[in-house]
Amino acid sequence: MRKTSDIIWQDAQHQVLFEILDLIREPDAGSSVMLRLRDYTENHFALEELYMEHLEYPGRDEHVRAHDRFRTEVQKLLGNREPDALDREIISTFLTEWLKRHVFGIDKKLEAFLVASELK
Ligand SMILES: [Fe+2]
Ligand SMILES: [Fe+2]
Repeated sequence: MRKTSDIIWQDAQHQVLFEILDLIREPDAGSSVMLRLRDYTENHFALEELYMEHLEYPGRDEHVRAHDRFRTEVQKLLGNREPDALDREIISTFLTEWLKRHVFGIDKKLEAFLVASELK
């Protein structure tokens, strides 16, 4: 794992996630953006979970449960049919709010733990 003076990867990935959520509400957004959201979310969550496991982070179970709820929501929203513009706007708003709470809440605690640990 890359070692830096700060956990830049976590912040950078959160930025990308918010950018993808903005793209979803663009009028010409297609299903590829939704898939990108799902894939990027999965990669990001998996990386955080890898660190938590590696470092035996005490808040791991709670954090993974929160990720799982988001995964389920994204999966539900991807659903069977192609979302229209209104669907995408609702999805974008809902997930952006969820992610803001997660990133500035539970992820901040993880960040503090990672910063204090040897492995960043
Ligand atoms: Fe995160
Ligand atoms: Fe997280």
